[in-house]
Amino acid sequence: YLNTLLKQIYDEFYVSDEKVDEIIKGFHDEMRAGLDEHNVLLPMIPSYVTGRPTGKESGSYLALDLGGTNLRVCLVTLNGDSTFDMIQQKFTISQEAKDFTLFDWIAQCVDIFLEENKISYDDFTKPTPCAFTFSFPIDQTGIARGNLIMWNKGFSVPNAVGRDIVTLTQNAFTRKHVNVKIVAIINDTIGSLMASAYTNPNCYMGIIFGTGTNACYWEKVSNIKKWSTGNLDRNPDEMIVNMEWGAFDNKLQVLPFTPHDNKLNRKSQNHGLQVFEKMISGMYLGEVIRNAILWLVDRRVLFGGRSSEILNNAYSLDTAYVSVIVADDSPNLDEVRMFIESTLSIPGTTFTDRAVVKNVCKLIGGRAKRLSAAAMCAVLLWRPEVLDNPITIGVDGSMYQFYPKFAESLKVEAIRVLGKEKADNLNIILSKDGSGVGAAVVAMTVSKPAH
Ligand code: BG6
Ligand code: GLC
Repeated sequence: YLNTLLKQIYDEFYVSDEKVDEIIKGFHDEMRAGLDEHNVLLPMIPSYVTGRPTGKESGSYLALDLGGTNLRVCLVTLNGDSTFDMIQQKFTISQEAKDFTLFDWIAQCVDIFLEENKISYDDFTKPTPCAFTFSFPIDQTGIARGNLIMWNKGFSVPNAVGRDIVTLTQNAFTRKHVNVKIVAIINDTIGSLMASAYTNPNCYMGIIFGTGTNACYWEKVSNIKKWSTGNLDRNPDEMIVNMEWGAFDNKLQVLPFTPHDNKLNRKSQNHGLQVFEKMISGMYLGEVIRNAILWLVDRRVLFGGRSSEILNNAYSLDTAYVSVIVADDSPNLDEVRMFIESTLSIPGTTFTDRAVVKNVCKLIGGRAKRLSAAAMCAVLLWRPEVLDNPITIGVDGSMYQFYPKFAESLKVEAIRVLGKEKADNLNIILSKDGSGVGAAVVAMTVSKPAH
């Protein structure tokens, strides 16, 4: 019976080569629609970032980097020779900030940073320019303006959706007497792209595989049919587009969505939205696996049919554990034992229990890697001519950094889909904590340095 059920799970989560090819095609259809029209499935948001960095940019900028887990406040010094120095302070975002107080909390963190690092304002009449990396979808109406489309990744601050994030943050600065002016707001994928581009000017794409997932890339402006010059005083040739690919296939026409994904989706704050993100990213991976494990427990083929209070709690299986479980190659699966017996509080596991848990993690984690690679390849094949020359992709996020063999899996799929010759032109690099640097590079193009 166990083998029959495992086979069922395997069939549901397995992603074949044909499926990857179908997903790539689905991406191209949605990308086309998103570039042509507003209010379609894939937002494809024009970012107003139009200038590629050269590495010669210089000056110091204050940058805020709001990810899914942490806020980083940074003072970035671009040295003008493709190198930079950075002082940064990391603040973990509390649930209270995610639910209510985000903007005042950000202002408080900036205040602490300026105070602790003795960064004094040059002149109290002139506010310090600051670039803001914001890791949620905004409908950008200028380089320093954009209305929040929706919260995701467990954030739910009221009265923010539909409003300009720069104004909300700036108002909080005013309330706390923080003399800082936001001169640019960019998505975190753009932060990754621009940071990588500072050292690798051929950087074409930025990707986040973290708490959430998303990507951006350079698009020809003539290809963004829905965009008019807006408040730009010139018509640029190219612009970075923030895809918001977490929203890919929200109608579930091509993705291999299983009942275990459905269970998560139904109970989530953003039911029916970000379904691609829910199959891939760190916030959700552990939860899909928990659903599949409980399904086996309920059929009495795992842990002798016993669960625990901890395992019964939604989101109790943190994706960080999945990385540890998948990497456990010890003969008795000791790490897996520790996780089930101590962390989940289910005593007396058999070797089969441990092996099943490891295999389920590998299977569902493997699906995440395969879908991630499919999305990356879809973007590369969208403008295949870019692969005629070497290009760089800047990637960041906890999944990319910590999930076993994530980077390798992107390369393997790229070779299969693009062919060895084109894949050899790809330089995929970690843009670790790079979004602050990327924001500083953007700020430099629109403002004077802080010091
Ligand atoms: C950070 C970047 O390193 O990674 C952020 O600087 C980004 O801009 C974040 O949002 C994404 O990773 P995670 O795992 O925090 O969602
Ligand atoms: C979510 C956000 C997106 C962000 C991504 C990675 O998908 O909508 O803006 O880039 O998470 O942090």
